[in-house]
Amino acid sequence: MNAKHGRITSSRKTGPSYVRIAQGTLDNLTSPESEETPSLPSLLIRDAHIWTEHRTIRGSILIERGRIQRIARKISAPAGEEILAQGLVALPGLVDAHVHLRDMRLAYKEDFTSGTSAAAAGGFTTVLDMPNTLPPTDSGQRLLEKARRASKNILVNTGFHVAAVGDRGAVKTMKMAGAFSIKLYLPKPIAPLDVGDDLTIVEVLKAAKEASLPVTVHAEDAAQIESTGEVQTFKELVGSRLGRAETSAVSRILRLQKQIGCRIHFCHITLPSSISAIGNWPSGGLSSEVTPHHTLLSEDSVEKLGWKAWMVPPLRPRHVRNRLFSEMTTGNATIIATDHAPHTIKEKRLPPQKSPPGIPGLETAMPLMLTMVNKGKLSLGRLVSLLSTNPAKLFGLSSKGRLREEADGDIILVDMKKKGKIDPDKFFSKAHYSPFEGWKTQGAVHTTIVNGSIVYSNGKIIGKPGSGKVLRNGRRE
Ligand code: NCD
Ligand code: ZN
Ligand code: ZN
Ligand code: ZN
Repeated sequence: MNAKHGRITSSRKTGPSYVRIAQGTLDNLTSPESEETPSLPSLLIRDAHIWTEHRTIRGSILIERGRIQRIARKISAPAGEEILAQGLVALPGLVDAHVHLRDMRLAYKEDFTSGTSAAAAGGFTTVLDMPNTLPPTDSGQRLLEKARRASKNILVNTGFHVAAVGDRGAVKTMKMAGAFSIKLYLPKPIAPLDVGDDLTIVEVLKAAKEASLPVTVHAEDAAQIESTGEVQTFKELVGSRLGRAETSAVSRILRLQKQIGCRIHFCHITLPSSISAIGNWPSGGLSSEVTPHHTLLSEDSVEKLGWKAWMVPPLRPRHVRNRLFSEMTTGNATIIATDHAPHTIKEKRLPPQKSPPGIPGLETAMPLMLTMVNKGKLSLGRLVSLLSTNPAKLFGLSSKGRLREEADGDIILVDMKKKGKIDPDKFFSKAHYSPFEGWKTQGAVHTTIVNGSIVYSNGKIIGKPGSGKVLRNGRRE
């Protein structure tokens, strides 16, 4: 660690301050029904470069009771805790709208604590979890059970997407229980649903509209995916899921959306043509997501790395990747999400047809993207929009995504100079593999602050399980 910045001091005389902070939050969370605001200690971030909408200013941030109280050139008020942030850049905490935290019967792949520790280490103060779990998140009851389990184990703020179901009443109940979106997984429905039939999809879109919920879509049409019975290699496996599966699904969903007028968010888009189709579609309420892997890697990696580079939708040819990268940096992509999708290495190493698709992404996204900023290929402002402001806005998190007074105390401190190397052995995620293994990076997350408490700093997790909040759509806790 660079000794000239990031020092944390406590003005209180007794006890280790971190423990107190985490404990205070934990006590609050174990009684979520309580009306009282807990008296969280105050935190002062001194002398940072603060990102405010369009530029950085030099100054300090005071957080009280979990919210940003003041941002000013100099703040002299005493605080329970101080961070000397000289040389560090303060950004709004990142929001990852697409992660798979697993847990429950898939906890051997990842659980709420390991997954949200990975989030904290990666600078994500809020994550939205996908419903393809065991059991799946496909009813209000199951959403509440998942939320209850999460509340004791998470270190960052966590909300939940739910599975698309045929029943309108169930959609409404899930909305009431706090769901952030209805996930429509076209290649293989999470809950029983005939996605080959347009009428079924129309019913889902109508139900979502009625409940004022966006629909998040995995846009690959099953009918366009070839059978994998004969494949021997990961390269052939990727060849069975060509771009036309995405093209067909995107145009189909756009056509149906025009009839219904609900909000649609397209997950992990891989083709620049899809981004423009979505961006140029005449009806409003549409957004698109790209991932670090689809914008930085091509199918060459599949040939070289096999299972480590296997995810769905798969990696695309180099020239496609290059244009997708431009859609991210200067084009029409709305957000970046990681699609953090951990599996065990044992599962991943199975023969191609049996190897589960997905790679962990929470701990690599920021160092990789900050490297792009340092190389001049992406502006810091655009990065903040894609990873924080836009996803917060898209999913109704109005008190997040911007550093300003009254906003939630979700802040990260970034060291733009810090050099590193992607090392999956050091991941807090249980999934210790990455197609980016060995990549040299410049720019790193130094400290992650969630609801005014330091959760991660300088390589170490400081927060306690249960210190994150379960988020409910449309509600500020
Ligand atoms: C995801 C998973 O493992 O849950 N895998 C993946 O390759 N992206 C599912 C998904 O997001 O489609
Ligand atoms: Zn440092
Ligand atoms: Zn998907
Ligand atoms: Zn996913």
